[in-house]
Amino acid sequence: MTVTPPDAAPRLDIADPSFSITSDLVHEARERSWYARTNYGIAILRYEEVSRLLKHPKLRQGSAAWPAHNGVTEGPFADWFASWVLNKEGEEHHRLRRLMNPAFSSKLIGGLVPRFQALATELIDGFAEPGRCEFVSEFAEPYAARVIAIMLGLPEHEWPIIARESATIGLAMGITLRQDLPKIEEALGSLYAYADALIADRRGAERDDFVSALVKANRDSDRLSDAELRDALVLLIFGGYDTTRNQLGLAMQTFMRHPDQWRLLAERPELGGKAVEEVMRVNPTVRWVTREALEDFTFAGLDIEAGTTVHLFSESAGTDPRAFGESAFDITAERKPHVGFGGGAHHCLGHFVARSDMSEALPLLARRMRDPHIDGRDEWLPDSGNTGPIRLPVAFTPAP
Ligand code: HEM
Repeated sequence: MTVTPPDAAPRLDIADPSFSITSDLVHEARERSWYARTNYGIAILRYEEVSRLLKHPKLRQGSAAWPAHNGVTEGPFADWFASWVLNKEGEEHHRLRRLMNPAFSSKLIGGLVPRFQALATELIDGFAEPGRCEFVSEFAEPYAARVIAIMLGLPEHEWPIIARESATIGLAMGITLRQDLPKIEEALGSLYAYADALIADRRGAERDDFVSALVKANRDSDRLSDAELRDALVLLIFGGYDTTRNQLGLAMQTFMRHPDQWRLLAERPELGGKAVEEVMRVNPTVRWVTREALEDFTFAGLDIEAGTTVHLFSESAGTDPRAFGESAFDITAERKPHVGFGGGAHHCLGHFVARSDMSEALPLLARRMRDPHIDGRDEWLPDSGNTGPIRLPVAFTPAP
């Protein structure tokens, strides 16, 4: 493998508000080198290197210091953020994952699939205008929030609270964290109240459901405390909702660019699972994951210093011709696994839920919404860390 000397490596200004992680600039940089220099460290652009670094023992999760970098070192938000399984490493991380894992069993989640189908049908039937919808508010948002409500056993009709409070907490991922903190902590308090009530209820009488599985979770006489359970539940509400909503919006965008594949999905609903994988390969909502070098090390001939921030670019990896050829979007193709759910120790814990609910929704949408196209002003989150549509007006030919 040839290594681009650090001085010759491409530079990407990822702090520029107009920076787009899916732009030609990034793809051209990928052709020149497997990594680029950025304002904060380095960005990894090719599939092989991204896949290897996701599992690299010298890298740790890079997001843990986010609140402190933004001047928030104590209080409910800082405590909650520090509790995330995502922000733990080593034995602490293993312990939390081990205890949370049984709740994500395919048996438990698989049992919810008929409810996901019924929900998708109900939402499509409920579009306000025949042949038109605002895809985010009429489908992606209620679907993602109600899937979480179904999974956790929350009252489904209260899904707007999940959506609203999660959106407010999402402000914490922006650089205005400090100024938004009072709102964020209020939203956190509201979701804590939900989680506390759920835990108390299931401690009273366990059921065969997700929260009971978490409540029961124990191994070698270790178990999740009530505070850990509450923190984990609120993380799952927040982390599971936002990502699924955005990924569904990106799926619609992708298929509107590939109408032949949408028609194929309508004819062959069994391709739902492969459609999800293919969308997440070329248009993943989590555009990058962040790591930090624990100590000095050399990777593929490049010296990486302790403390260096390493961004792993998932779209650039997923469209890397070295791994996927020049192949177009094709929901029948056999591919290497994409990195849209991350990889290594922090691989998405909710991937099976997300895969199940999206692979039910997409074929139904394809069957009922023929020839969809954008019809009106669409609006998007910045094309960097996590992205997706804020507003996506779609016109289509309705079908039964
Ligand atoms: C981790 C993506 C849905 C729970 C991750 C990571 C990614 C990701 C990329 C790794 C982050 C990193 O390594 O820094 C997604 C996408 C989703 C989705 C694209 C939807 C399409 C869900 C759902 C849940 C969930 C529905 C739970 C209900 C988690 C948790 C982690 C995680 C708990 C942290 C795992 C750990 O650190 O060990 N997700 N996710 N995700 N995800 Fe998801």
